[in-house]
Amino acid sequence: MKIIDTPEEMQKQARLLIQSGEDIGFVPTMGCLHEGHLSLIRIAKEYADAVVVSIFVNPAQFGPNEDLDAYPRDFERDEKLCRETGADFLFYPTPQNMYLDGHSLWLSEESLSTVLCGASRPGHFRGVCTVVAKLLNIVMPDVMVLGEKDAQQLRVLRRMVRDLNFPVKIIAAPTVREADGLAMSSRNKYLTPAERKEAVCLSRSLEKAKALFAAGERDAERIKAAMRAVIEKTSGRIDYLEIVDDETLQCVSKLENPALTALAVKFSGARLIDNAVLR
Ligand code: PAF
Repeated sequence: MKIIDTPEEMQKQARLLIQSGEDIGFVPTMGCLHEGHLSLIRIAKEYADAVVVSIFVNPAQFGPNEDLDAYPRDFERDEKLCRETGADFLFYPTPQNMYLDGHSLWLSEESLSTVLCGASRPGHFRGVCTVVAKLLNIVMPDVMVLGEKDAQQLRVLRRMVRDLNFPVKIIAAPTVREADGLAMSSRNKYLTPAERKEAVCLSRSLEKAKALFAAGERDAERIKAAMRAVIEKTSGRIDYLEIVDDETLQCVSKLENPALTALAVKFSGARLIDNAVLR
């Protein structure tokens, strides 16, 4: 596995791969890799000849009072995991290399980004879209693998790729969960042991929603009330808990078309998200 730390060198390498007829698979990450990320790398290997993983804690997608400085970083461990999982290239740029002095161009998706995490983290998806557009221009992949855990990010980036004609296919990978159902996330590290036990409430509330839906319930308010009741038994505070149309991400009151139920819950040191599609 080759480690590359400048956009110029990565572009040069990507051109060589393309010239030799190799398909490039790409997994963008912010590091602190867990089994969820490794599953994305494995999927990328199925679709491509050469797999590039990027590790970049993107300052532009963190708000002023968010966890940019505290975000867990462990390059040596991440490098070992990428190597063992079969990545071919690890792109590990510095913020200075990614955002040159005077950087003044930003990309905003203006519909799907305005709700859910976009509403509670203003500017977040502008940072995500900008960095992912840059990474796509640098890595030039045929295929990019993203996790369904970040459901809104997946939909916003699909829209960006569609609306700006990026020549890349996006593959969505299922959320990987701990044995008790908690979705894997680098931010689970922030939980105290007691909160870690309580954090299973996110997946439990989604299970509750799925069970009600399977039993024929189609009223969004009734499903949300049952989900809220699961969270409210814990110390977690609901940031948002919504049922939205899976295409438009607008709130629905009756579940007639595929719907996304998504929630964010704050514990003392961690804000966790999870989601499920009801169809
Ligand atoms: O999902 C993430 O880890 C990040 O949002 C991404 C896609 C790597 C962009 O910084």
